[in-house]
This record gives sequence, C-alpha cells and structure tokens, in this order.
Amino acid sequence: MSTGATLERPHVLRPPTRPGVPALLLLHGTGDDEHGLLGVGEALSPGAALLSPRGMIDEAGLNRHFRRLREGVFDEDDLRRRADELAQFVEAATVEYDLQGPLYAVGYSNGANMAGGLLLTQPDVLAGAVLIAAVPPFSTPPAADLTGRRVLISNGERDAMATQDQTRSLAEQLSAAGAQVQVLTHPGGHQLVPEHLPAMQALVAGG
Ligand code: MLT
Repeated sequence: MSTGATLERPHVLRPPTRPGVPALLLLHGTGDDEHGLLGVGEALSPGAALLSPRGMIDEAGLNRHFRRLREGVFDEDDLRRRADELAQFVEAATVEYDLQGPLYAVGYSNGANMAGGLLLTQPDVLAGAVLIAAVPPFSTPPAADLTGRRVLISNGERDAMATQDQTRSLAEQLSAAGAQVQVLTHPGGHQLVPEHLPAMQALVAGG
C-alpha cells in the first residue's frame, strides 16, 4: 500500500456496534456526498463500521471520485492517481479509527467504478466489493492478482450508462484477474434494487 497516508478529506466514520463484522468503504455516485450511502451501508451490514469518503473531484459542482473526459469516457490517469489517494486515505483511517479485519467496498455508479479501479490498481486494500451500476474502469485493465477477492456486480438490463456488454466485460476483467465474480441483473436502469440486497448482505458479511 502507498505511504503518505492522510485523512484530509471530508468523510464520515460510523463506529462499529457489532465487533468482528467487516467494515464497509462506501463510495457514492456522481453528485452525491459522504452521507449518501450511509443508509445502504447500514441496511447491508447493521452495526458494521462504515467509512464513507467524499469524492474529491468537483465537476461543475458535482462530487466525483475521479475525472471523466465526457460521460462514459474516463480520465484513466486521474483514476489511477485518485485510487492511490483513496488507498492512502483508507490506510490512515484504518489506523486512526482502529478498523479491524477485512474491508469491503460498496460503490454506486461513479463510486462503483472507483471501487473497480481500486481493486485493479491497489489489490491489497479490499477483500471484495459490491459494484452497483458499474462499468469497466479501464479500457485495458492493469495486471492485478485478485485471487481470494469476492465481487458482486448488480446492474440493470436497461441501463444506458452501464450496458450489458460493459457488464460482461467488467465481469470478465475481474475474473481474469482471479476474483470470484457474481453478476446479478435486474430489468431496470441505473439503480439499486431491493431484490439484490440479500446477495449484497451475504458478500459483505465475509466468510
Ligand atoms: C461514471 O463513473 O462516470 C459513471 O459511470 C457515470 C456517472 O457517474 O455519472
């Protein structure tokens, strides 16, 4: 993991009330902030430590985790930089808040793509991830060993921002890196659906 760890960004830390439960790293979507996924985190793993950083890119007043050149076209150099910064933030938070055990990311949309970028560039940070409305973060994924990492992709069949081809390609890239990948689809669009909550709960429970 990187050095130079710093906690200097807006974030929320909800301390755990159930010891031994894996902590969650919550990564919000474009235009949201560090409060946006707290309810989802609480629903997925009641009593888990919740670490929720704000994305530090300001795109015309909207928070994002990394820059994009236009909708659906990512600034991949910026994604690598921001993933490195996020890894440093997680490192600092782990010490400051005494976070124990494995860490699972739960990301929605831009936050899911950040989580994918973090997995592929900083494979030691996460034990796994729930990626909601996600696409491949890199056109050519970096070589990474994700053996033992568990990933759930929850995407919509009518999502113009995360098409079925992109869903397949993301799953293939993560599987090729060694991750254990489960893909769940629903008939809707760019959204979180309650039908997928049980599988998400099972993933972030670890074990
Ligand atoms: C992105 O990361 O840009 C997402 O796929 C779309 C969005 O956040 O609006």
